Amino acid sequence: MQLIEKISDMKEYSLKVRKEGKTIGFVPTMGYLHEGHLSLIRAARKECDAVVVSIFVNPMQFGPKEDFKEYPRDLERDKGLAGEAGADIVFYPSSEEMYSEGFSTFVNVEGRYTETLCAFSRPGHFKGVATVVLKLLNIVSPDVSYFGQKDAQQAAVIKKMIKDLNMDTDIRIMPIVREDDGLAMSSRNVYLSEDERRQALNLYRSLEKAKEMVCGGEASSTAIKSEMKRIIEEGKDLKIDYIETVDADSLEPVETVKENTLIAVAVFIGKTRLIDNIIIGDINDKG
Ligand code: PAJ
Repeated sequence: MQLIEKISDMKEYSLKVRKEGKTIGFVPTMGYLHEGHLSLIRAARKECDAVVVSIFVNPMQFGPKEDFKEYPRDLERDKGLAGEAGADIVFYPSSEEMYSEGFSTFVNVEGRYTETLCAFSRPGHFKGVATVVLKLLNIVSPDVSYFGQKDAQQAAVIKKMIKDLNMDTDIRIMPIVREDDGLAMSSRNVYLSEDERRQALNLYRSLEKAKEMVCGGEASSTAIKSEMKRIIEEGKDLKIDYIETVDADSLEPVETVKENTLIAVAVFIGKTRLIDNIIIGDINDKG
């Protein structure tokens, strides 16, 4: 496993691999890797000749009051984990090089994509995500890029950007990896106290309930959301940001839950914000 820090070195590596007729799989991350990230790296390893993982805590996607400074970082540990999961390269660019002085070009995926779900409590977040992902894709030039369903809105935004801007990468959205008790893995779970961690399970419980209701024939978004609200509010410190049912691709609101409906939830617990979701139907069929 090799560490590359300079953008020019990363481009050179990708050019060499592509000239050899080999394929590149790419997993963009902000580091502090867990099994969710590693599942994406393993998927890339299975499918591609060379695997690049980027680690870059992107300042542009954090709001002024968010946790950019506190965001957990551990490059040494990440290098080991990424290598074991099958990465050939860890690309670790500096903020100075990614956003050189006077940087002034941004990507904004407009409409529903950035006007729903997480957009309200994280204004500007998806502009920061789309901009950095476009930059990383230009630098790495991957054949296939891997993202997690954990960040369902992010996945929809990036898919739309890739389509609208005629970008040459295939995109795979991989299932959410959970702890044994169901909590969705997240680098931010380290912020939770034991008590908060226990309450956070209500997100998963509410989604399981939603799934059960849908399987039992309930299709009313209102009925499902109200039951989810009840379960989440059993956690005394959980403050609901949103519970929404939308189409997983267009993010348009859905009143009657059906195949490809994304049921998404976000809550605040103390200073931490957690998200989780399910998509009705088999996400693996969607590619
Ligand atoms: P980060 O939060 O580090 O996540 C990197 C990738 O791992 C994302 O595609 C995310 O959806 C996926 N992921 C996180 N937790 C997961 C889980 N429990 N199961 C499956 N996949 C999971 O998302 C970002 O970084 C950034 O916004 C980034 C795309 C790198 C741009 O800066």
